[in-house]
Amino acid sequence: MSGDPASEAVEVGAPEHRSARKRHALALFRGLPRRYDLLAAALSFGQDPRWRRALARGVRPASGERVLDVATGTGLVAAELLEQGGCTVVGIDQSAEMLGAARARFARRAVSNRGDRASRTPPVQLIQAEAEKLPFADGSFDALTFTYLLRYVDDPRATMRELTRVLRPGGRIASLEFGIPPWRPARAAWRAYTAVGLPILARLVSPQWGEVGRFLGPNITTFYERHPVERIADYWREAGLQELRVRRMSLGGGILMFASRAREQSPAGGRANAGRAHAGDA
Ligand SMILES: C[S@@+](CC[C@H](N)C(=O)[O-])C[C@H]1O[C@@H](n2cnc3c(N)ncnc32)[C@H](O)[C@@H]1O
Repeated sequence: MSGDPASEAVEVGAPEHRSARKRHALALFRGLPRRYDLLAAALSFGQDPRWRRALARGVRPASGERVLDVATGTGLVAAELLEQGGCTVVGIDQSAEMLGAARARFARRAVSNRGDRASRTPPVQLIQAEAEKLPFADGSFDALTFTYLLRYVDDPRATMRELTRVLRPGGRIASLEFGIPPWRPARAAWRAYTAVGLPILARLVSPQWGEVGRFLGPNITTFYERHPVERIADYWREAGLQELRVRRMSLGGGILMFASRAREQSPAGGRANAGRAHAGDA
């Protein structure tokens, strides 16, 4: 791998072996990169950038550490991680189009930092790959972040095991996902927005965004019916993660989860090391 804002491709599952969910995810993100950053912020009323910042801060990337950002998309979380300290970041995503936007972002940063050695941005590597099958050896990273990923994979439990595999013992992991507000009035407003407001607003932008607008509300609802937050927390523990912390932001519209990989795996698996999840709100 090169130290430039690099692009590399690992075969993303042969087309004939892709599940319907994967095919849908690949098609969905094909048309989004151009206006993704602006619209992700606008359609979440400015909350989404706040959540990403909290995610990057919460994972505490230290100077010299190597951080993997899974489902990096256009590189927004990777950029936040670089802002936090002198870590290096590897960003992976299965979408060539989203990675193209990330590549453009970091190429622009490299140009603006040229000649300014003191504030030189540490390198980012961008790799086309799947979260379910990471092209890295066990324990390769000091920390790992992932955003809006588990709704797009067929087996969130197995994906958590794969993410944990590439984290070194003691390494930190953090995720961001949309949530459904638990407080009844906020939940009613969320339902109205995702059922009516979001589809209309997104359709005004483009047909592709219109599809995202229609898809997101039902997709989030179905996901949590199958995988409530407590069950997702179990997937994390079963994968060997401990010191689990759940933070709900914006009345629960955004859910951040933080944990660290157990230093020593007991024969009974991660559960032996698991602390209880505790929740906070912001
Ligand atoms: C909503 S975007 C989030 C992008 C970015 N992390 C952010 O904060 O804006 C979800 C990303 O997940 C990627 N993705 C979905 N399933 C994936 C998988 N199985 N492996 C790798 N990337 C995946 C999509 O291609 C897309 O770029």
